[in-house]
Amino acid sequence: MPVKVILALSNEQERSLIRQVLLEARVTGFEVSGEAESPEDLVRLALPSVPAVVLLSSQFARETSFSLVEKLTSNPLVQVIVLLPQEDFNLARQFVRSGAIDALPVFQIPSELASSLESAIKRVQKFGKETFSRLPQAGQIFVFYGPKGGVGTSLLVTNLAVALAAYQPEPVALVDLNLQFGAVSTLLNLRPEATIASLAQRFQGELDFEFLQSFLSKHGGSNLRVLAAPSRPELAELVTTFLVEKILQVLRNHFAYIFVDTSTVLQDTTLAAFDIADQIILVTALDLLAIRNTQVVLEMLRKLYPSERLKLLLNRSNVRFSGLTPEQVEDFLGISILAQIPSDGQVAVTSVNDGVPFVLNYPNSSLSQGIFKLASIIAGDRFSLPADLLEKSQGGVLKRVVRFLLGEE
Ligand SMILES: Nc1ncnc2c1ncn2[C@@H]1O[C@H](COP(=O)(O)OP(=O)(O)OP(=O)(O)O)[C@@H](O)[C@H]1O
Ligand SMILES: [Mg+2]
Repeated sequence: MPVKVILALSNEQERSLIRQVLLEARVTGFEVSGEAESPEDLVRLALPSVPAVVLLSSQFARETSFSLVEKLTSNPLVQVIVLLPQEDFNLARQFVRSGAIDALPVFQIPSELASSLESAIKRVQKFGKETFSRLPQAGQIFVFYGPKGGVGTSLLVTNLAVALAAYQPEPVALVDLNLQFGAVSTLLNLRPEATIASLAQRFQGELDFEFLQSFLSKHGGSNLRVLAAPSRPELAELVTTFLVEKILQVLRNHFAYIFVDTSTVLQDTTLAAFDIADQIILVTALDLLAIRNTQVVLEMLRKLYPSERLKLLLNRSNVRFSGLTPEQVEDFLGISILAQIPSDGQVAVTSVNDGVPFVLNYPNSSLSQGIFKLASIIAGDRFSLPADLLEKSQGGVLKRVVRFLLGEE
């Protein structure tokens, strides 16, 4: 399938130059598929026609050009080459930071555009191949559910998915089924144009991976693929149980681990995910309300599913009020705790506010250590931290101590 090239240019001089260069370029595997008139037009043209390369004039969207590049490249099947009116190193760097593969001044277009286009085409084709391949055996689906709101379900499932995607060789996906107030995009600092709602709008009963893939966003720091929640609560109702089943069935053929975040309100889409899950992970905390809700939910789930499919994850395990211990919780609920994650407000809140999962920024924190243990339980030896990682983070701690002593913290 040829890669679509979409032009988003801002003047006639650029248009004739680009047409000429594309005509003469000895690059194969692409076809010019359209010319956008406005930023909205560009998003509409590019996102459904993936894989695509966009040739974007830096003037095209004026001051919103950077965010436009970010939006387009949040889909890994879109590459953007930016054309600058003159050489401007700083501007070029900002565009590359926003996700562009290259930023060329006009005078370099005749000599450089062809090779730049060639690498953009290779990249989108490589991504296509990377995950188009079917896995030899079906992936495992882990649905995370917090019987009481705010216990940390989204934070834990997101960090676990990122840890496995970063430090384990098989592909990992995360689906945000908290359809009204999904948190995954915020936790990963993604601004996806495509979401499960836009997928629902275009879904006509059949779903193949090539199509589904164009709705997945890539988390740059870890290679995790994310199917984001709708951008507005009212779009939640577009997502049906049938679609949820299809999505999980298709993902299971291409990803070794599929994680699903859900909302505390038990929706039929959550139940559809429970039905197909290999493991339902209940997230709870040492607080009586959370334990009580967990008991109620466990009672319901035990009637529906074999008990091997139900697991308990204890968050903020070191926060103990009225002497309630993890062992007492296990006895009371009649289920053993799969893993315990301690409380660390500073690491948790900093990571949420920075949009960088703590497993990447604070690998030495007790929070990350808890997640790494859980990742090892899930993936066994396949999960391994790079040797330099812990040293690096220790350097980070040392730096922080020095900053503290210097009065900078
Ligand atoms: N182990 C922890 N230590 C410290 N703070 C934590 C921990 N786990 C979660 N938090 C904090 O708790 C808050 C809620 O987390 P999160 O959004 O993940 O919960 P949730 O159960 O998904 O909530 P919701 O019901 O809204 O979906 C966040 O501000 C997060 O930083
Ligand atoms: Mg949540």
